[in-house]
Amino acid sequence: MTADIYYDPYDTDIDTAPHEVWRRMRDEAPVYRNDRYDFYALSRHADVDAASRNTKAYSSAHGTTLELLNSGADVSTGMMIFMDPPEHGRLRALVSRAFTPRRIALLHEQIRQRCRDLLDPYVGSGGFDYVTDFGAELPSRVISALLGVPASDQPHILEVINTTFHLEPGLGMTNDIAINAMFELHSYLTAQLAERRENPRDDMLTDLVHAEINEADGSKRNLTDEESANFGLLLVAAGTETVARLLGWASVLLADFPDQRQILADDPSAIPNGVEELLRFEAPSPAQGRWTTRELTLHGVTIPADSKVLLLTGSAGRDERAFANPDVLDVHRRLESHVSFGLGAHYCLGAPLARLEGRIALEETLSRFPTWEVDHDKAERLHTSTVRGYKKVPIIL
Ligand code: HEM
Repeated sequence: MTADIYYDPYDTDIDTAPHEVWRRMRDEAPVYRNDRYDFYALSRHADVDAASRNTKAYSSAHGTTLELLNSGADVSTGMMIFMDPPEHGRLRALVSRAFTPRRIALLHEQIRQRCRDLLDPYVGSGGFDYVTDFGAELPSRVISALLGVPASDQPHILEVINTTFHLEPGLGMTNDIAINAMFELHSYLTAQLAERRENPRDDMLTDLVHAEINEADGSKRNLTDEESANFGLLLVAAGTETVARLLGWASVLLADFPDQRQILADDPSAIPNGVEELLRFEAPSPAQGRWTTRELTLHGVTIPADSKVLLLTGSAGRDERAFANPDVLDVHRRLESHVSFGLGAHYCLGAPLARLEGRIALEETLSRFPTWEVDHDKAERLHTSTVRGYKKVPIIL
C-alpha cells in the first residue's frame, strides 16, 4: 500500500517541498517505514503529540537525529536533550533555575536594540538579505547576551558560534571545523564559569554556578562546570539555527501571503499569534528522532523494540485532522496547540525566548518595512538534519 510513497530527511528535493509526501503519509501510511535508512515515521498530529509525551516508550537517549540514531554513537554527553526521565527532569529543573522568566524578560530591550542595530542601516535602501544580514545574526547575539558573554569577547564568540554551524559538503554538520569550534566554545564557557565563581555578576553564567540540583537520594549539589558548559553549548545549538530558520520562513511566507503581512503591519498586537501560526505552517525543526524501548502497535503496524522513529512535527502542523485549512496561513487562527516546539518532557526550554525574539524581530521589521518582495532566484535553502528552511532570502524593498 505504501510502496510508492518515499520519504527520507536526506533527500534535498523532498526537504525543499515535503508537504505533499507528508500529506500522503498521514493519509495512507501513518506509520511509515523506510528500509533504506532503517526508520519509522509518525506524521499525524495526534500520534506525534502522544509519542512526544511518552518518554518511557520513545527514548531520546540514543540521539534525536537520524544520523545519531544510526551511528550508534554514545550521546551521553550530559546534554538534557539526549536524556530520559528521571535524570532529564532533575537536570532540566536545575538549569531552569538559571533560565528564568526574569532572565528572559531582562533581554527584552537588548533584543530590540540588536534588531534596531541590524535593521536601521537598510532603511531607505533597495533591499538586503533577511537571513544572512538579520535572521541569522540576531539569535547568536541574543544567546551570548543571555549567557553574559562580556562585550569585549562578543565579536570573537559570535564568530565561534557561527563556526559551530559550519557545513562541509558530503560531511554535513559533523566536520572538524565545526567540532573544533564546539571545543573552543566549551573551553571558553568553562573559563567564564571559573571567573564568575570569583566575580559573580547578574548573568546566566553566574546563575549556573550557584544553581543546586536535588539528587535521587534527597541530597543537594551544585552543577559541575562540565554540566554548565554543556548547557551553554546546548543553548547555542538549540537556540541559534532554529530562530534563524523561523525568521527566514517569516520573510518568505509573509511575502507569499501579503494580506496576512498587512494585518500584522496594521496591528502589531496580532504578531504573537502570527508567530505561532508561522511556526505551525513551517516548523523550523521538523523531525525529532526517538528510539523505541519496547514493541509498539499503532494503526495496525507493529514497531519492534529498538527501532528508530522520526516524529514529524513539520507534518503534524499541516494535519487536516487537527487544523482546518492547514495549507492556508491565517495569523488570526485560534491555535489550541501546535507541536513545533515539541511536547512533554522535552518541550522546548527556549520557547519563551524564541517567541520573544520572533515577536520583536517582526515588530521591528514591519514598522520599518511593511512590504517587500523575495528575490526567489537568489534565495537559497539550507539542508541539515536538525533544521529546515532558508540560508539566504534576498528581499527587495
Ligand atoms: C523557533 C525557534 C525554536 C524552535 C522551533 C525550537 C524547537 C524545539 C523542539 C522541537 C524541541 C524538542 C526536541 C525533542 O523533543 O527532541 C526543542 C527543545 C529544546 N530547545 Fe528549542 N526551539 C527553538 C528555540 C530555542 C531557543 C531560543 C532555545 C534556547 C535559547 C532553545 C532551547 C531548547 C532546549 C534547551 C531544548 C531541550 C529541552 C529538553 O530536552 O528538555 N530552543 N526545541
